[in-house]
Amino acid sequence: MLKLIPVVPIFLHLLSQIDCLDNGLALTPPMGWMHWERFRCITDCATYPTDCISERLFRDMADKMASDGFLDAGYEYVIVDDCWLAMERDSEGRLQPDPGRFPSGIKALADYVHAKGLKFGIYEDYGTKTCGGYPGSIDHLALDAQTFADWGVDYLKLDGCYADLDGMEDGYAEMEAYLNQTRRPIVFSCSFPAYKGLNANYSAAVEHCNLWRNYGDIQDSWDSVAKITDWFSLNQVALLPYAGPGHWNDPDMLIIGNYGLSYDQSVAQMAIWSVMAAPLIMSVDLRTIKPEFRDILLNKDAIRINQDVLGNPGVVKHEKDSIRLWVKELVDDSYAIGIASYRVDGKPYQLEIVLKDLGLDNEKGFLIKNVFDDVDPISVSVSEPIKVLVNPTGGVLWELTPLAKKKVK
Ligand SMILES: *[C@@H]1O[C@H](CO)[C@@H](O)[C@H](O)[C@H]1NC(C)=O
Ligand SMILES: *[C@@H]1O[C@H](CO)[C@@H](O)[C@H](O)[C@H]1NC(C)=O
Repeated sequence: MLKLIPVVPIFLHLLSQIDCLDNGLALTPPMGWMHWERFRCITDCATYPTDCISERLFRDMADKMASDGFLDAGYEYVIVDDCWLAMERDSEGRLQPDPGRFPSGIKALADYVHAKGLKFGIYEDYGTKTCGGYPGSIDHLALDAQTFADWGVDYLKLDGCYADLDGMEDGYAEMEAYLNQTRRPIVFSCSFPAYKGLNANYSAAVEHCNLWRNYGDIQDSWDSVAKITDWFSLNQVALLPYAGPGHWNDPDMLIIGNYGLSYDQSVAQMAIWSVMAAPLIMSVDLRTIKPEFRDILLNKDAIRINQDVLGNPGVVKHEKDSIRLWVKELVDDSYAIGIASYRVDGKPYQLEIVLKDLGLDNEKGFLIKNVFDDVDPISVSVSEPIKVLVNPTGGVLWELTPLAKKKVK
């Protein structure tokens, strides 16, 4: 039998009392590619010519995103993270990229990315320095916003290293106002919630940011995925009311295809991120990714669940025996159910589910499609027990379509 988590009044209609950032962007969770988790702060191009943070790396990734189906699947932003900057601003105080690694300049790189039909993102830091020690934005917010707009930036991740925690919200609000004044639509990814934890003013995040990191950086391991998802689950009552179209919680990058996750763990990360309505920002070498991992990232059903127009984040409804289950409400009375196993006992775990116990209701039941398994969909009533096997440190993702039209209330 399922032990249900007491259903908490998660959707308190808080958002009806909060102004939301109105830049028309990120109405579904942003999708793209960002260099950090895989390529870090590699600046030694002599030793690592294809992996260092240089214009070549981003051109290569843009090429692959356009040619290998990622753009078609919805991954549109190519995002430069830390370590792109020169150590000094130019004579007029403007940011400039490292001249050796970005000899053509950022505008040319953005133009290249745009020519592929993609969008271009960049990184800065609200404080005196970036986390990697490069010039920060704090005394130059207006100039930096304008510089980014002039270069053709479509997405800004503003980190929070070397910054005063007090008043951080005001600083990010100021930057949002400067971005708005450039009149260029720029997705704004804030980091203050990750630095301030649950003390952050999440109303300010919704008012000024399209997405925000809530928690520490993801690392290339299942332990890291587990730690992040444990934290989001533990704090869902505090976090979920703030997520929706135009404003998203961000549990950080997809690390699928790198060194740390097995095939099953990769399915689990994709299932969890999809059902959470998390931004889908890959960080992997698209030039060498193995086909089975590429297929997970390109799974159309998972992406459709993630990109559902209602923008409801999944709610954890069951947690027991190191198994966690989320339910996400989709359009047209459909649902997604994501299940992750954190078990390490070397054998699949059998979970028994009754849909009505999870709050799903339909007089004729649902058609269940198993997103990551090539089996025929099955029809189930809401009261019959369904058995599902979940691999150890693996995941399952279901899409449930109602068999009867619900009566209009
Ligand atoms: C600037 O803010 C106004 C008011 O919220 C909004 O209507 C407009 O779309 C914003 N423009 C940009 C480019 O973000
Ligand atoms: C939090 O942010 C909101 C929206 O910007 C603001 O109205 C409110 O005063 C802030 N709350 C605190 C405690 O600072």
